[in-house]
Amino acid sequence: MSSNHTKCSGFVCLLLLFVFLLFRNADCGQIVRTLPGYTGTLPFKLETGYVSVGQSEIFYLFVESQGNPEVDPVLFYIVGGPGCAALNGFFFQTGPLQFNGTDYTGGLPSLHLYPYTWTKTASIIFVDAPVGSGYSYSTNASDYNITDLESANQSHVFIRKWFNEHPQFIPNRFFVATDSYSGILAPIITQKILDDNKAGVEPKISLVGIISGSPHTDGNLEENYRVPQAHLLGLLSSTLYESAKTNCNDTYYDVDASTVSGDCLEDLEEIDNCLEQINTEMVLAPKCATIAPSSDYRNMRRSLKEKSRQFPLPSSRSTDYYCKDFGYLLADIWANDKGVQSTLHVREGTIQEWRSGDHDLVVAHTSTEYWLAELNITLDEDWRPWYVGGQVAGYTMKYTNYGYRLTYATVKGSGHSPTEWKGRESYEMFERWIHFYPL
Ligand SMILES: *[C@@H]1O[C@H](CO)[C@@H](O)[C@H](O)[C@H]1NC(C)=O
Ligand SMILES: *[C@@H]1O[C@H](CO)[C@@H](O)[C@H](O)[C@H]1NC(C)=O
Ligand SMILES: *[C@@H]1O[C@H](CO)[C@@H](O)[C@H](O)[C@H]1NC(C)=O
Ligand SMILES: *[C@@H]1O[C@H](CO)[C@@H](O)[C@H](O)[C@H]1NC(C)=O
Ligand SMILES: *[C@@H]1O[C@H](CO)[C@@H](O)[C@H](O)[C@H]1NC(C)=O
Ligand SMILES: *[C@@H]1O[C@H](CO)[C@@H](O)[C@H](O)[C@H]1NC(C)=O
Repeated sequence: MSSNHTKCSGFVCLLLLFVFLLFRNADCGQIVRTLPGYTGTLPFKLETGYVSVGQSEIFYLFVESQGNPEVDPVLFYIVGGPGCAALNGFFFQTGPLQFNGTDYTGGLPSLHLYPYTWTKTASIIFVDAPVGSGYSYSTNASDYNITDLESANQSHVFIRKWFNEHPQFIPNRFFVATDSYSGILAPIITQKILDDNKAGVEPKISLVGIISGSPHTDGNLEENYRVPQAHLLGLLSSTLYESAKTNCNDTYYDVDASTVSGDCLEDLEEIDNCLEQINTEMVLAPKCATIAPSSDYRNMRRSLKEKSRQFPLPSSRSTDYYCKDFGYLLADIWANDKGVQSTLHVREGTIQEWRSGDHDLVVAHTSTEYWLAELNITLDEDWRPWYVGGQVAGYTMKYTNYGYRLTYATVKGSGHSPTEWKGRESYEMFERWIHFYPL
């Protein structure tokens, strides 16, 4: 019985290998040498392609390290939402190019090199996961509605298949890198990699760690921490905060109006009034209405004007009221352009419209500190400042436990997520940490 089983699975393996070889070329990524909006040849190696996971086709952009790709680490990089596109990470967080929104007058936005790209010292696979984000698609409609567990499984299968197609990177140190919402996926993906590595599944992934920016973990905890965080930031008076704390028994989110006191409800209403017009991603930035982008960029200017009551027009005086969401609009225009899609080797007719997803989940750093403390791991180095250019760039704590290291760092003056607001500081933090230097 068991020998039959072995023979049988041996046969299946051979068959799979055969199919794999036949379709290998179709699956492999393609090199992209120029990009619409960028003048000249790209000074970094960019590859795009799809990896099949079940009936889903997961799109990725791979940027090879501009440092020493043979030894530099490889990052599997997914952003938040869920549903944010890989291009969001590529253009606004850790990738080598950014949009130039200065004096934008319509048409395809132009691109320039970004000095704080993490690809200076790491190779990054920017992935459109789960399916439905960015350029990823499925031939089975039910794949577009998946749970976090299924999504993590999809990412795990992606990672193994990607390494099979890029065996030269198997020995490199590997990190699961996530931002915002995907913080919830990072430990699940990592656990799956560890389990399969332990079970001897090939290729063995050289997993070293996780990097999570403003990680989403426990939604209730994060929502609840908004109130004390708002008080710390000076958005709520001490009187109001102390009153709410007492009246609501420290619970400000998902309160049951039938069981809490009227005083609590009154306080919560006042808190809402104080925070309603605040940009929760970055409290110092203006709150901009999110405008529905028009994929027809020729009408962009007009459509912006029509909506200008809610959305300040960028102008040469844009420093007066800089609206960060403008960049997302440029990304929508760029990513939906047919010429761009063809350059990126996006398969024709596979997606309706490229969407960047939402950016509304905000994680108070105090909520992260709360669950870190709950892990009961040994604190190796307590809260201390870390520096960039001789100035305090934020604060850090280091935990250690049986050879595992966990570094927590805040980035001073940053919004959600730090890579989008404090590029230089975020790069320096990453560069030191990934090469085992203290922050
Ligand atoms: C993970 O995904 C693979 C490929 O789609 C599938 O064969 C497998 O059943 C999935 N596993 C889980 C636990 O969902
Ligand atoms: C962005 O565009 C403006 C206006 O065309 C130009 O003056 C500026 O040099 C560009 N910036 C970069 C970094 O390329
Ligand atoms: C689509 O996916 C669902 C869930 O994985 C599966 O039950 C169904 O058989 C699939 N449909 C087709 C046509 O393959
Ligand atoms: C998505 O799947 C969940 C169960 O996993 C189901 O309850 C829900 O109705 C589905 N939504 C859609 C739009 O199909
Ligand atoms: C307040 O919360 C604590 C812990 O969450 C709980 O033990 C206590 O019973 C609550 N008090 C009231 C008045 O609801
Ligand atoms: C940490 O310690 C506290 C108090 O001893 C305990 O309640 C909690 O379950 C521990 N957490 C973990 C993750 O072990």
